[in-house]
Amino acid sequence: MNRRDAFRSLMSFVSASPLFAQSADLMGPVNVHEFEALAKQKLHKLAYDFIAGGVEDELTLRANREAYKHWYLVPRVMTDVSKVDTSVELFGVKAPAPILVAPTGGKNLVLPNAEAIVARACAKTSTLFCTGSGAERAIEDGTSIHWWSNTTGQPTKESAQSYARRIEERGAKAITVTVDNQYQSNRDRNNRNRFDYGYMSTGVLAEDEKRAPRNPAKAAMWQPHTPNLTWDYIDWVRGATNLPVIIKGVLSPEDGELAVKHGAHGVIVSNHGGRQQDGVIATIDALPEVVQAVGGKIPVLMDGGIRRGSDIVKAMALGAKAVLVGRAPLWGLACFGQAGVERVLGLLGAELKLDLALCGKANLGELNAKMVRRIG
Ligand SMILES: Cc1cc2nc3c(=O)[nH]c(=O)nc-3n(C[C@H](O)[C@H](O)[C@H](O)COP(=O)(O)O)c2cc1C
Repeated sequence: MNRRDAFRSLMSFVSASPLFAQSADLMGPVNVHEFEALAKQKLHKLAYDFIAGGVEDELTLRANREAYKHWYLVPRVMTDVSKVDTSVELFGVKAPAPILVAPTGGKNLVLPNAEAIVARACAKTSTLFCTGSGAERAIEDGTSIHWWSNTTGQPTKESAQSYARRIEERGAKAITVTVDNQYQSNRDRNNRNRFDYGYMSTGVLAEDEKRAPRNPAKAAMWQPHTPNLTWDYIDWVRGATNLPVIIKGVLSPEDGELAVKHGAHGVIVSNHGGRQQDGVIATIDALPEVVQAVGGKIPVLMDGGIRRGSDIVKAMALGAKAVLVGRAPLWGLACFGQAGVERVLGLLGAELKLDLALCGKANLGELNAKMVRRIG
């Protein structure tokens, strides 16, 4: 045996051993930040920038993360946390953790058929899945999953009602209405990359398109999406279905009050992950006032910048019933497909459980605003 064959035979022995499998696993990403770093290496720049980016100077994108650094936990000790329960019930559905996958369009930029892959990962981990707009077909028959349908609204009462009925028949457990999508936002990264929004549906970029994007930079300003969506929409949808209707994109306490007044069943404090308007308040900072305005009448959820279990503990201590994660599962998807999404969701759930225990709390119901302080 020459030296090369000897080396090959040694490598095949090593790679077949359980020890190698363990060390390979240990070399994988150990947190969501590391998933993002690996995803950045794997994805085409257009796709990475589309997912990671925010609008304009990305002040709000950064603020969503930075704000968690100003909220500090004040744990309790000497409580029995030998058993910790992170389960939550949302609109009649029980989930093992208060973590939903947020609606994200353009998943096909990561992998073909990605919406269905993420749905399968959610089914496997019993995670509530909020589909991307119009992506309810990705819920394959037989996938045992609790899912909410996300919409940015339909222009007429008739179309809104037929959408709501269709979704109910397909088995959705709730409708989320994204209300901060009045116009196409101004995303410098996409403009610089000459990103063609058609890529979102056509999927993974073909090799030639990677070299030469199809379209020149588009004037992103003033492209209407849903500029005439008003509170009437909630009445229309509620008239056609018994499904809970949840408003996604609330930041002000006044809108929290209006959501209650118009019979919404829940609100999601969200700034679209810093992707719609720059300079708006970070979601963890907006949350306490919205919670106060809603006054416990309907559940308040939140999203934006969640990358750690401790972020979730802070949000829930401030009154969120559950959180949604947008980018985190997409980084998992880019790294390892369905297994990567499952890993990211599992990591966040495990971190949350440990953080809850170290705060001296045995379940989510014990969290309260006394456990967090904003400093700085
Ligand atoms: C690639 C991408 C696409 C998104 N598409 C939608 C969408 O179609 N509708 C919507 O309501 N929100 C959309 N969002 C916003 C998410 O639902 C969520 O509010 C946000 O990602 C939460 O912030 P995070 O990514 O820091 O977790 C998208 C976010 C990303 C990253």
